[in-house]
Amino acid sequence: MQITKIKKKINKKKLFEITSIIQSENKSSIISSLSKRNIVLFLEKTIESKKLELFVATYKKRIVGYAIVALRNKYLKQVFNQYILNFLFDLIFRLKIVTLLNASMSYMKLDNIFLGKFEKEKISNSINLNMIAIHKKHQSKGIGEKLMKFIIKDFRKDSNYISCEIENLRSKKFYQKKLGFKQVGIILRIPKLMQILIKKI
Ligand SMILES: CC(C)(COP(=O)(O)OP(=O)(O)OC[C@H]1O[C@@H](n2cnc3c(N)ncnc32)[C@H](O)[C@@H]1OP(=O)(O)O)[C@@H](O)C(=O)NCCC(=O)NCCS
Repeated sequence: MQITKIKKKINKKKLFEITSIIQSENKSSIISSLSKRNIVLFLEKTIESKKLELFVATYKKRIVGYAIVALRNKYLKQVFNQYILNFLFDLIFRLKIVTLLNASMSYMKLDNIFLGKFEKEKISNSINLNMIAIHKKHQSKGIGEKLMKFIIKDFRKDSNYISCEIENLRSKKFYQKKLGFKQVGIILRIPKLMQILIKKI
């Protein structure tokens, strides 16, 4: 099993492998509600961007896990904004109403009204682990931990903190027990609130 930071274009087959992990494992994310074509577009733009990084875990030449990390949360929004119409029409066309509401709340910065000024600043100055998933067949074998340790090492020079948003209890165990993240606040998402976790790196 090998962890790699993707620095240049990868072929469509690899992009589809990541897309299928996103669609099966990150169902509650905004990205996974997009069409396959737009998820691939988002991945391509992530690879092109100097402020976002795509990491993959490969096993027997297949991608079994991935992570998208932004140098700061705002850079992710910048990439998203370039294709906002594409993504909006995609969600409207496929009647992804809940995702549209969540995306709008995030766009208008209404989702972080429960965060204090100090927490907001700490989060906006941290590395943002935006998405991560390991293929179902390969979960609970230590790949997620290995991927996270690789990412933390890679970004240590860029910030003192790494943050992420989570909603399920199992991933909370992964972040808090295995990796030492701490909860700093909550953000509004429909249908349930998400927790913001942070870790000193
Ligand atoms: C969370 C996740 C990235 C961890 O990767 P992993 O390779 O399974 O992690 P590790 O093997 O290093 O650690 C395993 C621990 O992570 C947690 N975990 C395992 N499977 C999980 C799952 N399906 N969902 C969430 N957490 C899980 C558990 O605490 C587990 O410990 P256990 O095996 O003793 O129960 C991976 O399980 C996953 O892709 N889950 C679904 C997507 C997700 O929840 N992403 C995070 C939110 S963006």
